[in-house]
Amino acid sequence: MARIFNFSAGPAALPEAVLEQAQAEMLDFGGSGMSVMEMSHRSNEFVAIAAQAEADFRELLGVSDAYHVLFLQGGATTQFAGIPLNITVAGDTVDYVDTGSWSSKAIKEAEKYCKVNIAASSKGSNYDHIPAVDSWQLSADAKYLHLCSNETIGGVQFKEFPQVDVPLVADMSSDFLSRPVDVEQFSIIYGGAQKNIGPAGITVVVVRKDLCGKARDITPGTLDYAQQADADSMSNTPPTYTWYLAGLVFAWLKAQGGLDTIAALNERKAAKLYGVIDNSNFYQSPVQPSVRSVMNVPFTMPDDALDALFLSGAQERGLSGLKGHRSVGGMRASIYNAVPEAAVDALVGYMTEFEHEHG
Ligand SMILES: Cc1ncc(COP(=O)(O)O)c(C=O)c1O
Repeated sequence: MARIFNFSAGPAALPEAVLEQAQAEMLDFGGSGMSVMEMSHRSNEFVAIAAQAEADFRELLGVSDAYHVLFLQGGATTQFAGIPLNITVAGDTVDYVDTGSWSSKAIKEAEKYCKVNIAASSKGSNYDHIPAVDSWQLSADAKYLHLCSNETIGGVQFKEFPQVDVPLVADMSSDFLSRPVDVEQFSIIYGGAQKNIGPAGITVVVVRKDLCGKARDITPGTLDYAQQADADSMSNTPPTYTWYLAGLVFAWLKAQGGLDTIAALNERKAAKLYGVIDNSNFYQSPVQPSVRSVMNVPFTMPDDALDALFLSGAQERGLSGLKGHRSVGGMRASIYNAVPEAAVDALVGYMTEFEHEHG
């Protein structure tokens, strides 16, 4: 078996221990004589798996009883619509901060349902920074303020979050569970699973209970937070196997020491990569230092013609998934929780070698 170092932006690397456990339990989960994949979502076994996953998630992130934790389908993209459909009425104004591709996709979707005010945008400088909070043009009557905590494509990450008077909503798809956050600062936090939570197919929504129960009449039932909360996220058949794997990842994360520990490790991994970039005249980061992402590290080289050579050399060394997003170009190393420090060390070694040869 040859496992490689996987720097994919998502679906992304999973902890090897989790995959091994899933493999060991594949044919017979806990003496049930069947795979979790084959189990009814109404069975006692699966209901226990789902409840444990939620309990571990709550413990890891520090989610109080004031919030529902929902495990839904449709990805973060579906929540781009789910949020306005649940907490606004037609004609309402909502504020969005535009710090990259994912915020701008969220904006486009929300525009179908609300009047969107773009309170701040860094588009004019290719999304290389986050506009200072005191420059944001917030609406007087906004129903919520939306931001993307980590722009997966651009590699721009909020290091702290603004204190605002309206509900704060965050797309945390690509830095969920990578560091502690003060959940009480937010009204809704949501994200797709396929970076730090598990395989693709499940979307976690953390929503203040007092915001639920006011969905628009046109809201699909499966997207209605109150309906899903009442049904323990089983208003229809949930993605049971993905939920189970997410639960294994949560248990793994707890065993690593929780979010403080993983955040320190993530910071160390990122510092190694940014160190190589900053100490060279060859590699460049397109992002201003104060907001560089700890999860997604884009970098470019002086000549795009070197990209293909870099990637093929990386592949030969077992370093995969480094091609930058087509909208940005260059390289991108995604270094989520499950990417071991040894992977970063191997990449750093290769980058140093490549620079000596081609710099
Ligand atoms: C920050 C962010 N938001 C939203 C999405 C969309 O997620 P999904 O593909 O699960 O709908 C992604 C996808 O990777 C993302 O990185």
